[in-house]
Amino acid sequence: MTDRLTIVESDITQLQVDAIVNAANESLLGGGGVDGAIHRVAGSKLLEECRTLGGCPTGEAKITNGYGLKARYVIHTVGPVWHGGGADEKQLLASCYRRSMELARDHELKSIAFPAISTGVYRFPVVGAAKIAVATVTEFLASDDSIESVVFCCFGGDSFAAHKAAMEMFD
Ligand code: AR6
Repeated sequence: MTDRLTIVESDITQLQVDAIVNAANESLLGGGGVDGAIHRVAGSKLLEECRTLGGCPTGEAKITNGYGLKARYVIHTVGPVWHGGGADEKQLLASCYRRSMELARDHELKSIAFPAISTGVYRFPVVGAAKIAVATVTEFLASDDSIESVVFCCFGGDSFAAHKAAMEMFD
């Protein structure tokens, strides 16, 4: 499975994949961090489409077109805010990765790139989040042959190192 996984240190808005995942909030109407960057590059048509979606609960995902992005689609998912670990944060984060992969499969996409969901403004610890990301995606790929490439797009060396270490646990 891990031959279909790669880790890069990059700006996700520049990746040429079928879908990039956005770490959004429940309104789906934009924000800071990776969400802000994606909306800036995609342009105002993305916000227009997002307005039609009626928001998204934490742990779920919704898909839109990519507009000005190199990626054809954006999968918007809403990670949990970290409250110390006792508020289902781990299960909700795993659900973000799983639901995004399911949407990609249902739309017959071959490649998808994830940012490190919840590890910025939402304060989920980076090492724990990377383990959940790698474990959930690996488990999904074990039961699905259709998605050929999953990229963990890290912003900064700490995130990159955490994903690398998490992947080594599966090699
Ligand atoms: N490419 C890849 N990763 C990025 C980029 C980028 N261009 N920019 C930031 N990151 P965050 P969250 C990384 O805060 O914690 C927004 O306001 C960042 O370094 O974007 O899920 C939403 O609207 C970190 O590793 O998302 C929500 O309100 C990771 O992306 C809230 O923030 C996630 O950080 C969501 O918070």
